[in-house]
Amino acid sequence: MRYVLGIDLGTSATKTVLFDEKGTIIASASQEYEMQQPYNGWAEQNPDDWYAAAINTIKSVVEKSGVNNEDIVSLGISGQMHGLTMLDESCNVLRSAILWCDQRTGKECEELTEKVGRESLIKKTANPALTGFTASKILWVKNNEPEIFEKCRHILLPKDYLRFRLTGDFATEVSDASGMQLLNVPERRWSPVMIEAVGIKEEYLPKVYESPEITGYINEDAAAKTGLSTKTAVVGGAGDNAAAAVGMGVVEEGKAFTTIGTSGVVFAHTDSPVIDPAGRVHTFCCAVPGAWHVMGVTQGAGLSMQWFKNNFCYEEKQEAEKQGKDVYQLTDAMAAEIKIGCDKLLYLPYLMGERTPHLDPDCRGVFFGLSAIHTKAHFIRAILEGVTYSLYDCLLVLKEMNISPKAMLLCGGGARSKIWKGMICDTFDMPVETSKSAEAPALGVAILAAVGAEIYPDVKTACSVMVETDDNSTKPNAENTKEYHAYHSVYSSVYPALKDNYKALASL
Ligand code: XUL
Repeated sequence: MRYVLGIDLGTSATKTVLFDEKGTIIASASQEYEMQQPYNGWAEQNPDDWYAAAINTIKSVVEKSGVNNEDIVSLGISGQMHGLTMLDESCNVLRSAILWCDQRTGKECEELTEKVGRESLIKKTANPALTGFTASKILWVKNNEPEIFEKCRHILLPKDYLRFRLTGDFATEVSDASGMQLLNVPERRWSPVMIEAVGIKEEYLPKVYESPEITGYINEDAAAKTGLSTKTAVVGGAGDNAAAAVGMGVVEEGKAFTTIGTSGVVFAHTDSPVIDPAGRVHTFCCAVPGAWHVMGVTQGAGLSMQWFKNNFCYEEKQEAEKQGKDVYQLTDAMAAEIKIGCDKLLYLPYLMGERTPHLDPDCRGVFFGLSAIHTKAHFIRAILEGVTYSLYDCLLVLKEMNISPKAMLLCGGGARSKIWKGMICDTFDMPVETSKSAEAPALGVAILAAVGAEIYPDVKTACSVMVETDDNSTKPNAENTKEYHAYHSVYSSVYPALKDNYKALASL
């Protein structure tokens, strides 16, 4: 039997999972790390924390599995997208990585739009200039930390920094590179115009591969630290959403999924690069060679519940520990006691600004309609509903683009919540099925690794063997759909009313 490893470098933790060639989980491990927020809207992480988490979790998985390391034929890495890691000429990290949810680069986005032109930006990179994407972060360092920019010789995404530490190679692949705003997305190669616009040289960027291609092999140092063999191949891998798509078998037109992780995403596979002229959703290369995907993003999905739990659920955390349960089981039970609409309390999940549909780095979260009747349980349910409305906004933009999935797969930590699944199903008004594999991104890149190692001839064939389906589909309830849509319609009217106030607040 041959084995493949999937490493998912997430925003809250790195999860490493070993699968056999049929997709069965053999062993897994995860290690958490912090996100630093030195100012409102900033988000950074230390790349050494990612590396330490990867080394520890790989070592633990190799040991626990008891598998001969030479039978682990290949591995893939999935990663949080867009993050900027800068290295000097000796390959030392120059500053903390600036993450996908960081919103400091509003001015740099204006600068990029002025330099390249909005239409040309959308034509080349398939997206307008966005604060979350890597290009504006590079410009921010150039404008604000010129001494660091001068020393920069290598620019890597989070998972590609990890690849560099594990193999010594500077490489990336099309799905994650699409989120840098430096790739010509329709043509799947670096864009000279964008490279010039941010003031770097192409040699600072890694070589671009297709996601299942082998980019290198585990080096001596990583082998000694993890127990892996130097014969283990490392494939391109994928950005976390493109990886989750493969892990859920969303690899052909007509299929779609929603994920609720730190961020939330509604993702649809497309055979051609379909672009929203208003730029409200992203068009990226997907992990299937020669195909693309379109996705809308909610910045603060699981993050909203995590923020509320960390700040206001001390008793629930203690109680959960006593009962040996996950704290979210308790918060879900509290939310289930409250009616749809939370007795007229709405939540806008814009803790880190918002992408779809507003593209506004300055907006922030809101509880709207607060009354003396409301309890902590109302707040919890309002958060679950507000994130659902924001994801529904993503689906509505896809529908405007004639991408109309008939059913939705659901994954990410939020998929473990039955009540959240029900809300998505009723609000989206379509059947929703949760993925059998709790670790869709890790499975996705393990599948890509299996293709790279030639266990399977292509991604679709590998998915047909390695992705297990499980009919747990929930059907929408028409009454509930009507109610959710009525609240969504008020929810949708709050942002436009506050738009100028957000700008005023941000300018103070
Ligand atoms: C996608 C995005 C997030 C991150 C973090 O554009 O920014 O989904 O990849 O998970």
